[in-house]
Amino acid sequence: METQIFKPDQIEAAAALIKAGQLVSFPTETVYGLGADATNETAVKQVYAAKGRPSDNPLIVTVTGQAMVEQYAEPLSAKAQALIKAFWPGSLTLILNLQPGKLSKAVTGGLSTAAFRNPANQTTLALIQAAGVPIVGPSANTSGKPSPTLAQHVYHDLKGKIAGIVDDGPAQVGVESTILDLTADVPTILRPGAVTEEDLEPVIGTVRSTHHKVGKTEVPKAPGMKYKHYAPDAQVYIVDHESDWPAALAWAQAQDYPVGAMAIDPVLAANQLPANVEAYTLGPDLASASHRLFAGLRHFDLESPVKGILTQGFADTGLGAAYMNRLNKSAGQVHFQK
Ligand code: TXA
Ligand code: MG
Repeated sequence: METQIFKPDQIEAAAALIKAGQLVSFPTETVYGLGADATNETAVKQVYAAKGRPSDNPLIVTVTGQAMVEQYAEPLSAKAQALIKAFWPGSLTLILNLQPGKLSKAVTGGLSTAAFRNPANQTTLALIQAAGVPIVGPSANTSGKPSPTLAQHVYHDLKGKIAGIVDDGPAQVGVESTILDLTADVPTILRPGAVTEEDLEPVIGTVRSTHHKVGKTEVPKAPGMKYKHYAPDAQVYIVDHESDWPAALAWAQAQDYPVGAMAIDPVLAANQLPANVEAYTLGPDLASASHRLFAGLRHFDLESPVKGILTQGFADTGLGAAYMNRLNKSAGQVHFQK
């Protein structure tokens, strides 16, 4: 299959493919998604095959707004309505109870709930509008690899396996949406993202978090114990404190292989890089670091192979919780130890 690249002004052609049951990758403000007609079970099943995704992992349903959610979900609670008003379109995915039989098992993994997302990307909202159906939207990467923040990343992973990619430039946020379960007694964050606990609580009161905060481990217990998530080929080492960088770089210099270093500009500027260390800047601050994390991991996989990647850690609060969640998974929770 030839994978066509569409520009944002070619939405009609991309929507025609969706309507015909084909797979088309679409841009969002977080990461690129892999789209298929959510009401077409055959098309949805192909999404799992293209990504190599386990079939019991349910998909996000991407919608144009509240009216489209109401076609599938049980009547919305006051909290759901308040969240939609405050954060949509935007990086907050809501888990809601479904009307029975409204979406296939291929979408929900057999659950009575579904994850609804309204991305802040006009091109994709126009695509869904033109297709006339909600589209499933897992991240458009091969399962286990870092999520794609550029159309080129999608092309690398899925070329020949999907009909098209709508290229709308780089995704701005860089980490996937916050997932909030509204079917629990207390609304619960299942995955941290750019919409934080601190953002949610003023709107709906107490919010709980289940994504566990991970501790340090000195060495991976077994390489196979590594989370198979966001993982580049090289081992990622989290450098927790800015003051650890001189020791981390001295360790890198003693290795007989190339090592990557991903950190923000002030950290890179403050340290002398050994000859076998290649820097990848995470930009000026945490926001740019979240935006560039996955692209950096892919850079060291594809363009500049290394065996280890030293990567800057941040405090585990606000957007830092989303960043550290992804970084911990890509590192299999391995931290650099002085
Ligand atoms: O930012 C995003 O959310 C991106 C863009 C493309 O929209 N999408 C994304 O999809 O990250 P994906 O499939 O990579 O991650 C969706 C997560 C999965 O971990 C899945 O298990 C969970 O949402 N999920 C989906 N439906 C669920 C449900 N009914 N209950 C609990 N978790 C659910
Ligand atoms: Mg994903």
